[in-house]
Amino acid sequence: MKNILLLFVATLTLSCGVSRAHENPAPELLPAHTVVIRGTRTIPPAWTLRSKPATAQHAMVVSAHPLATQAGVEILKQGGNAIDAAVAVAFALEVVLPDAGNIGGGGFIVHRSAAGEVLALDYREAAPAGATHDMYLDSAGNVTDKSLVGHLAAGVPGSVAGLYAAWKRLGSLPWPTLLAPAIRLANGHIVDSARSRDITNDRELLAQFPASRAQFLPNDSAPAPGTLWKQHDLARTLQLISDSGPDVFYRGQIADLIVAEMQRGGGLITKNDLRAYRAKWRTPVELTYRGYTIYSMPPPSSGGVTMGEILNILEGYDTIPALGTPAYEHLLAEAMRRAFIDRNHWLGDPDFVQMPIERLLSKSYAASLRSEIDPQHATPTPPSITTGGGVHTTHYSIVDAKGNAASVTTTLNGGFGSGVTVTGAGFLLNNEMDDFASAPGKPNMYGLVQGEANSIAPGKRMLSAMTPSIVLDRGGKLFMVVGTPGGPTIITTVAQVILNVLDQRMSLADAVAAPRIHHQALPDVIHYERDGLTEATVRALEAMGHRMEMRRGMSGIVAAIQHTAGGWIGVADPRYAGGALGY
Ligand code: GLY
Repeated sequence: MKNILLLFVATLTLSCGVSRAHENPAPELLPAHTVVIRGTRTIPPAWTLRSKPATAQHAMVVSAHPLATQAGVEILKQGGNAIDAAVAVAFALEVVLPDAGNIGGGGFIVHRSAAGEVLALDYREAAPAGATHDMYLDSAGNVTDKSLVGHLAAGVPGSVAGLYAAWKRLGSLPWPTLLAPAIRLANGHIVDSARSRDITNDRELLAQFPASRAQFLPNDSAPAPGTLWKQHDLARTLQLISDSGPDVFYRGQIADLIVAEMQRGGGLITKNDLRAYRAKWRTPVELTYRGYTIYSMPPPSSGGVTMGEILNILEGYDTIPALGTPAYEHLLAEAMRRAFIDRNHWLGDPDFVQMPIERLLSKSYAASLRSEIDPQHATPTPPSITTGGGVHTTHYSIVDAKGNAASVTTTLNGGFGSGVTVTGAGFLLNNEMDDFASAPGKPNMYGLVQGEANSIAPGKRMLSAMTPSIVLDRGGKLFMVVGTPGGPTIITTVAQVILNVLDQRMSLADAVAAPRIHHQALPDVIHYERDGLTEATVRALEAMGHRMEMRRGMSGIVAAIQHTAGGWIGVADPRYAGGALGY
């Protein structure tokens, strides 16, 4: 059942991707878009979507919604810094991007100050104290859908605690100033066609829960494009958070509403769980690639470590073939495969699991993995490797006028999370519990064994793939801020955007627009985007022993910023209707 649902969710999200791309208000359709790299035409002519980069001298915000981006810029123009803007964007996304914006969810921030200090903040959801190792198994030991849909799927939300912790340490404007744009939007904003369609696509999920029906399906359907959408309960919740900070969410009136909702639907989160929740500062993962430095998220995200392994493996090749060639896609897929094998075996919540991070990220380990790659043939993934991860999340990147940078990826997990809106509070709860391995030691639909490192335990944080990242140039100066949603494809997407800029020498716009592949060890298959590889490349990879599968839609919604001589370039992925804006 769970697997059928997963397939359903994935299909929906991916097929949404196709229409979303055509909804983008900013794409420039070029008749025969090609990128020429070292004399080779590497992007198929059929791939015609181009993003229109924003340029700005001082500061830049890129997010998955133009109104959230505007909220961030508004704060920057009032003298706020990157964290002030990040807090404003987060609360605005809760209002205008309800499928992924998330005071009922969690996330990660990687922040680099203009002075060079890099911090990572973990506000990932935690399993409630009542959670148990086998809570999603039925009496026959089969995995149910309870980790995906409904009250039992929700982990203890971390976003409000995390945003407040980030602001306390790094923010500069008053807290209520940062919530003002979101409150204004919740009191009424014009819905665009992309968001109306997102709600329509998940109508069946939302209709199951009365408070979600009332909030998202007034008159039994999604708010129509071009209409004013008012979310009164949410506006009140945001006002309470503005007035009282996280206390009201974790101990006060909103906590009461969350607990009442849990009791209504058989969920586990208690007042004690909420009271005990803490955001945690972590040591960022620091990677090097051909002289560039990359900071990314450590566990409980697998993002930084897994991307590090991919990059370390590729760094050992003196020459990198051109994007789109069988030789390049093969090397990339084989590096991804090896990194995911380690990810799936080793990684979990660092407060619960011992992990050999130093070894996994060492250049000598990468050399040993590289030596096992056959340049002509795919290496089959051994059995008993795990896989997993939800597909709907959101990323935003910010650089302020002083050069502070925030890279933020944040999630409800699935689109609209668990589908449960907290009655009277107007926000959705996550279904992040599905990012745990529900049945460690038991085969899933692929005959694989899920890893114990990511098994469920009270208070534990589920493994994530979110990869908010910051890249410094060879001189140690801020060069890129990048991230994306996309479940496990987050890791491979961020890696490919970085590789496209650093190795393939592409402009940021082309690096983001370029078709992407994904390999996660198991299923043992290269996924590629529609028209993302030529027929000849697909056939050549098959001849090497790769199983090839074209996605129904597209992969990732990147939000990226790059430093240039003239200031900043911001790129919102042409696959979706986001927004890049600076000044
Ligand atoms: N829920 C998606 C992730 O954390 O990777």
